[in-house]
Amino acid sequence: MRITYKTKDILDIFNISRQTLYNWINNNLISKPKTDWRGWRIWEEKHIEEISKLITEKKTKAEIKQSKANKLVKIHNRRYLGSKYKLIPLIKKVIKKECENFTTFADIFAGTGVVADTFNSANTKIIVNDILYSNYIIYNTFFSNQSYDKTKVKELINQLNNIKSQEDNYFSINFSNTYFSYENALKIGEIRETIENWANKELINFREKSILITSLIYAMDKVANTCGHYDAFRKTIDSGATPIKLLMPYIKDNFNINNEIYRIDANLLVRNLKADIIYIDTPYNSRQYSDSYHLLENVAKWEKPEVIGVARKMVDRSEIKSSYCTKKAPIVFKDLINNCNCKYIIVSYNNMSKKGDGRSNAKISDDEIIEALQSRGTVKIFDTDYKYFTAGKTIIKEHKERLFLCKVN
Ligand SMILES: C[S@@+](CC[C@H](N)C(=O)[O-])C[C@H]1O[C@@H](n2cnc3c(N)ncnc32)[C@H](O)[C@@H]1O
Repeated sequence: MRITYKTKDILDIFNISRQTLYNWINNNLISKPKTDWRGWRIWEEKHIEEISKLITEKKTKAEIKQSKANKLVKIHNRRYLGSKYKLIPLIKKVIKKECENFTTFADIFAGTGVVADTFNSANTKIIVNDILYSNYIIYNTFFSNQSYDKTKVKELINQLNNIKSQEDNYFSINFSNTYFSYENALKIGEIRETIENWANKELINFREKSILITSLIYAMDKVANTCGHYDAFRKTIDSGATPIKLLMPYIKDNFNINNEIYRIDANLLVRNLKADIIYIDTPYNSRQYSDSYHLLENVAKWEKPEVIGVARKMVDRSEIKSSYCTKKAPIVFKDLINNCNCKYIIVSYNNMSKKGDGRSNAKISDDEIIEALQSRGTVKIFDTDYKYFTAGKTIIKEHKERLFLCKVN
């Protein structure tokens, strides 16, 4: 006997929507079923086979695409103190519900750049800034519109991965058996020197150089003998550590149309900046990012400075010290807010600990944030559940991550 099925049976068997099924028929991906006297479709065994085959093929294609994507390094694949990667759903929700049309988004303490990346699109221009040179290089990789030869860069990454290093170099002498195994340190030094030589001989342009350095920085993070920053290293070094491997960064070329990239003190930048939304995520406590990421600055610049102490930091880091990590923080914050030229100001500030002088204590109190923002417009405060509070003090105390939104008058 010929077994037949109703459309509803097919939908249930394959757990697909009616629209998907009809699209497959319309696109000739499966054969068209006959209809009965009421116009209802009659599905047969051959349709079951066709649909099973189609679903398997689609799954395989998706898996191939996924595995290709896995071989690329994404902007968030990096450990960074204070990264807001996990806060992105809240930031998106607040902006969607509270901010009317915007076409420019400025992330002026951008760190990894993950927040700016979320809003980088064909319709939105992003402006990214950070005082660290290593971050500036990373933004030039992910957000610039300077041209680059993708095939060439992939081939160069391949060459860098195959480098065999024999002789000690600046990096192995200063950083082996602390932050990196000896083998990885040798290779990192050799790779970085090779990139510098290619750039000096003009075999690569600034964008291509940035992509290669970015690839190196992300690869270093995967094999570093640390808990995610370079203020200290773990006591024991794993001599059989995973060998370092560089990957091609995942760059959304179509979106990088007229983005702007800076490396300047945010308080100076805002004086010449106009954007619809300015997002502010300053450091919270006295831990300077110049101390936590001195090693990446060193690799990004490759000026081979003298390094000292157990943590092997460059002697002079004054240029990358932040006032937001000092007791001047409330004053510079107020100055920053006063000079923002935008429709909305959004501030993230972590209040894990009370304001005070301890190393991990917050440098700006909630009252100081609210007061500065209220001088510019109406303020709302959101917690991670999108609960919102007007500018009360006690109610927001227990919430670690909050977003302060100011609709500028
Ligand atoms: C909390 S982190 C930002 C994290 C970022 N939102 C993310 O998701 O990765 C603060 C950043 O501000 C930068 N910074 C500190 N002082 C600065 C200043 N005066 N101007 C610009 N950037 C500064 C630091 O280098 C650090 O990357």
